[in-house]
Amino acid sequence: MVNKTAVVTGGASGIGFAMARRFLAEGMNVAVGDIETDALDDAVRRLREEGGDPKVIGVRADVTRIEDVTALCDAADAAFGRLDVVCANAGVETGGRFLDVADQAWRWVMDVNYFGTLNTLRTALPLLERSGGGHLVVTGSLAGFASGTPFMTPYCATKMAIHGLAECLEIELRSSGSEVHVHLLAPGPVRSRMIDAERNAPAGVPINEDTARRQAMEAFRARQSAEGLPAEHVAELVLDAIHERRFFVLPHRDRALAALRRRLDWAESGVTPGSRVPGT
Ligand SMILES: NC(=O)c1ccc[n+]([C@@H]2O[C@H](COP(=O)([O-])OP(=O)(O)OC[C@H]3O[C@@H](n4cnc5c(N)ncnc54)[C@H](O)[C@@H]3O)[C@@H](O)[C@H]2O)c1
Repeated sequence: MVNKTAVVTGGASGIGFAMARRFLAEGMNVAVGDIETDALDDAVRRLREEGGDPKVIGVRADVTRIEDVTALCDAADAAFGRLDVVCANAGVETGGRFLDVADQAWRWVMDVNYFGTLNTLRTALPLLERSGGGHLVVTGSLAGFASGTPFMTPYCATKMAIHGLAECLEIELRSSGSEVHVHLLAPGPVRSRMIDAERNAPAGVPINEDTARRQAMEAFRARQSAEGLPAEHVAELVLDAIHERRFFVLPHRDRALAALRRRLDWAESGVTPGSRVPGT
């Protein structure tokens, strides 16, 4: 991977930062995009300290704006001459009881998680094809397999949607002889700043503070500190999957498979998880 180029959206923190760092250690040039300017500057400084100045650039890029994603990919292409790995990683979370989630909040999560991923895939694919092939890494979630997570419906719905994007695109690329490969990263809890994702909510997006939401967040926080994997471990698995051209990257493999089986059982038995009578 030496002298190849990686682009990472949402790369100033957590899983994105860890992937950027791992790619750099592999000898790759890295372009980091993020919406948070201070965090981005800090991330670029830290990466440069480790990896050597010319190999890292940072571009403020809001993935909901396709022109920002284009500017990020173009800057990487201009600085390093080619693109090889593009990670559609930026993501946010908000939620609460279904009817308590405001319209603006539904749209914000959809804009970042779904349209941000779509913008990144649509922008990066032709550039990777031009490089003769490459890798698209989509950061989904265990929530994309585990239907029925209460009070996180907006997040689950967007992650299911991008799992669909990644799966369909990979099948299309394999059936058309492309040299571009898609990888779906679907982790459970990982230590990061995701618990504070609402810090990036635009003005006008109401933050839900009701009891159901607070309890869901406390449970998420507890899971993150009890079972959360280090982001560095997740980044290592992503690199392995790229080398092996493996689609699914499942840091919590047993839980992912259990969630998929639970859904299959639901479809077969008609019994909704958490209820006793079919159809309830
Ligand atoms: N941490 C977990 O437990 C976990 C589990 C499963 C999936 N994920 C997914 O991992 C990805 C990375 O999240 P993380 O856990 O590292 O959280 P994080 O908050 O540490 O990092 C997310 C980054 O995305 C950036 N971002 C937010 N909105 C953006 C926008 N509109 N445009 C560009 N950048 C934006 C943030 O500034 C931040 O730097 C997300 O897609 C998240 O859904 C996280």
